[in-house]
Amino acid sequence: MSGPRRAPRAVSRGEIINRVRNFDAARQTRTLRPDAAGIDQAAAILRRGGLVALPTETVYGLGAHALNPDAARAIFTAKGRPADDPLIVHLANAADVASVARLDAPAARLAEHFWPGPLTLVLPKLAVVPPEVTAGLPSVAVRVPAHPIAHEVLAVAGLPIAAPSANLFGRPSPTRAEHVLADLDGRIDAVLDGGPTPIGVESTIVALTDARPRLLRAGGVAAEAIEDVLGERLHLPADVGAGPQVAPGMLPSHYAPRTPLLLVNGSPRAARERLMHEAAAALAAGRRVGVVALDEDREHLPAGVVVEEVGAFGDEPRLASRLYDVLRRLDARGLDVLLVRPLADPRRGLGRALADRLRRAAQRVIAVADD
Ligand code: TXA
Ligand code: MG
Repeated sequence: MSGPRRAPRAVSRGEIINRVRNFDAARQTRTLRPDAAGIDQAAAILRRGGLVALPTETVYGLGAHALNPDAARAIFTAKGRPADDPLIVHLANAADVASVARLDAPAARLAEHFWPGPLTLVLPKLAVVPPEVTAGLPSVAVRVPAHPIAHEVLAVAGLPIAAPSANLFGRPSPTRAEHVLADLDGRIDAVLDGGPTPIGVESTIVALTDARPRLLRAGGVAAEAIEDVLGERLHLPADVGAGPQVAPGMLPSHYAPRTPLLLVNGSPRAARERLMHEAAAALAAGRRVGVVALDEDREHLPAGVVVEEVGAFGDEPRLASRLYDVLRRLDARGLDVLLVRPLADPRRGLGRALADRLRRAAQRVIAVADD
């Protein structure tokens, strides 16, 4: 390949399906247990350039040797991911970051506070990191995961591991080994089954490459906590469509089920009323309806809708840990439309990440005003 491709940002569903069909290197995907033997096997596969999905505290990642360009390229093929969407490099310890990136004082402060953990830092890269990993950018995203299985694999393999979320491009990130297999069985060498991932949404991404630290993606660490440590406000992402793409994970139509999802935004009362109305209207039109339901909405939903409870409004840890699983469960039911309303306060904590993922998973958003 002659340098990173600058593909257009919008990738149609048809194009993704085509990429997936064109993939013909069918292989046996092994499920490994997270014991010493399984970790040794995972490490051996990674060292020789293979692909292993592994649990982190956020979501399952699809790991490959980060300093091996062929291994990194294989990630894009397996996921059907555009080559200009850079990968996060995972390391066993904060001290290892110096082998792939330049850490200045603010980055070191964040590292000390939040690593190991669900924070990704975008830093100036060192020459050793191949352009396949960073999509030709002069920066590299790095993270030291807290999950003991991820840590063990990194430590035993003794390598930096590039790992995007282990889903097909555009689909909800996997929070269980079954989700990984549903998307990637036959396309990767192995999955280490470590059970459900505890946090359930991806890491927070902060870029420290220009004068002002920028939040590129809300995630497992609250933006306010990062601001407290930095002693300065984060520059927040411009709304999608308003400007050039900052982080490709910020594409609209990402994390999305295949069934169209309608997000009803508004105050809890107004949004709930409108959601009930939309559910009843879709049922009356003969459509099969699923709801990503807050616990308190269950009794108000019309009979005949398929309900998956996701948690109580504002119970962020539980909501985050269940959201992608609920979206995938409903998606498997062969429904015509899925409905959801905001799950938490979108301005703080994990609520910011939940709001962001719902917006990107939604095919349509309606905003209702209080009356
Ligand atoms: O929690 C997570 O972050 C999971 C686990 C496996 O670590 N990983 C994950 O990776 O969500 P992925 O590839 O699905 O999302 C990584 C995001 C992408 O949106 C990518 O564009 C952005 O990080 N990114 C990576 N390198 C970047 C860079 N140099 N500059 C800006 N954005 C970057
Ligand atoms: Mg992803």
